[in-house]
Amino acid sequence: MTTRITIRKPDDWHLHVRDGAMLKAVMPFTARQFGRAILMPNLVPPVVTTKDAIAYRERVMAALPAGSTFKPLMTCYLTDETDPDDVEHGFKEGVFTAVKLYPAHATTYSAAGVTDHRKIMPVLERMEKIGMPFLMHGEDVDPEVDIFDREAMFIERYLSKWTRQFPALRFTLEHLSSKEGADFVRSTAPQVGGTITPYHLVLTRTDWLGWGLKPYMYCMPVIKTAKDRAALRKAATSGEACYFLGTDSAPHPVAKKLSVNGIPGVFNAPVAIETYAKVFEEEGALDKLEDFASVNGPRHYRLSVNETTITLEKSPWTPPQEIKVEGPDEKALIYRGGETIEWKVVSS
Ligand code: DOR
Ligand code: ZN
Repeated sequence: MTTRITIRKPDDWHLHVRDGAMLKAVMPFTARQFGRAILMPNLVPPVVTTKDAIAYRERVMAALPAGSTFKPLMTCYLTDETDPDDVEHGFKEGVFTAVKLYPAHATTYSAAGVTDHRKIMPVLERMEKIGMPFLMHGEDVDPEVDIFDREAMFIERYLSKWTRQFPALRFTLEHLSSKEGADFVRSTAPQVGGTITPYHLVLTRTDWLGWGLKPYMYCMPVIKTAKDRAALRKAATSGEACYFLGTDSAPHPVAKKLSVNGIPGVFNAPVAIETYAKVFEEEGALDKLEDFASVNGPRHYRLSVNETTITLEKSPWTPPQEIKVEGPDEKALIYRGGETIEWKVVSS
């Protein structure tokens, strides 16, 4: 039995670190495990211009532990009004790595997102021309569409058309949550890649809703069936280049998670690589962890892989249930907090 594994340092291709006190509290957990991360722009207000992204990057850098070599990669929050010239300028200046689509009202802090897909065509054309990646929260929020079908319907109604309309544009379908999503990515690779979260690999909707309502398992896209989870586990552990690590770690103040109108998001950064290691071990695929976590992502984004390594050992530990955030009574729940975590990062 393998009890120790060393891999190239992983990157997180989908991460929320927020701002202010929350940013300060959560940033060290990611910096500890990952070389780089794509930072999502759904702040309040969102990161919509190059200027916003430069300012946000500075706040992120200030929240890093002293001596950290972690590199944040910034994204542009797409709106109906996004200016293709500013997007191009930000990309060419090395400020933006990608543009992120949030369909309006699809998820947390997406109210300023895209309301009419026809309005974003000039931006997509420009991105295709300059080789800039397009990241998508791939859900169709038409109220007629059942919440469990939102991902499949987004593919059917939008993404399958865009891949033909923009053959040279590189897409990432974020936080794959369904068999349809995993299958679509495989069928359109390498044009489309897909990130997979630790919690979509571990949980089913029965875990979330079957034994009492677990608000801290509530996320968008929602956790689906055991069949979907099996397809995602097979995809992630296959080593195929189109699937890569994106935690979607998304911390919230506990009061927002436990409210009568609870907010979606799972804060998993404190146990992220450890949870992926558990899944890969269960699937007999620890030898594929490095491809998924550290190689496939940089290839998709045409960046170099990290040269340093991290080592994990089979050495059980228990994270706290929550972390303290500066401010009166502020705290955030940790995914798998209080549980026994099998793998531990022993050097990074
Ligand atoms: O569950 C989610 N939380 N899904 C998202 O797409 C956004 C995220 C957040 O920002 O909290
Ligand atoms: Zn996200």
